[in-house]
Amino acid sequence: MRTPFIAANWKMHKSIAEAVEFARVFAPLVRDVTDVEIAIAPAFTSLAALRAALGTSRVALAGQNAHFEAKGAFTGEISVAMLADVGCRHVILGHSERRALFGETDAFIAKKLRAVQAAGLRPILCVGESAVEREAGRTFDVLRSQLEGSLAEADPSHAAELVVAYEPVWAIGTGKTATPELAQEAHGFVRARLAERFGPAAESIRIQYGGSVKPENTADLMAQADIDGALVGGASLDPVSFSAIIRFRERRAGVSG
Ligand code: PGA
Repeated sequence: MRTPFIAANWKMHKSIAEAVEFARVFAPLVRDVTDVEIAIAPAFTSLAALRAALGTSRVALAGQNAHFEAKGAFTGEISVAMLADVGCRHVILGHSERRALFGETDAFIAKKLRAVQAAGLRPILCVGESAVEREAGRTFDVLRSQLEGSLAEADPSHAAELVVAYEPVWAIGTGKTATPELAQEAHGFVRARLAERFGPAAESIRIQYGGSVKPENTADLMAQADIDGALVGGASLDPVSFSAIIRFRERRAGVSG
């Protein structure tokens, strides 16, 4: 019922030429995949060239961040309308790197989320606990307050198009993936909070897992009831590895990967 949604977060990687070369190799590798939604969030500088290089491929574009104001004196920022203009369908919001390194608060993220929805784009809202928070037994408190705060201004009429990425901070870029069971526990908790906030629409919301997703662990994660996709950093930089993640069903069936 929920179409899996797998997105690449390239962070601050790849020149324009590298992004175009990725598309040349990647697009044919996923051309026949119709049952998984795919998006790539490149650096802003590569968005236009990547759009052109992907051609008629079904791969969507995502922004890694956006400002909530429509325009104005906000040096270094990019508006949601600018992302729509260059062909983005999604915008990643509240990534733990934005929260930890650039001081983004839930209140700030909430404004962005509203702006993204108002422009008809789809937010990918990231939440997740740090190692210290998990060890202190605070995981669910952290998830609850991030969801409440970041969704404070969300438009319920767009709830079904919302995507949430559960990304335990201790699993990002560390090679330490959450076990499928531990991830499912968090995803189930997130969906219950989404149901409190949005009612039955919560059943349509895709919840991605993020944090050291690789071709080898995707099928087991995706087999969990509330894991509906992945937000992939490091392993999305290589077209063969990212396409193997997208073709996770073949690995589960033991065909290839
Ligand atoms: P990773 O990053 O796959 O390199 O752990 C995931 C993310 O930060 O979205």
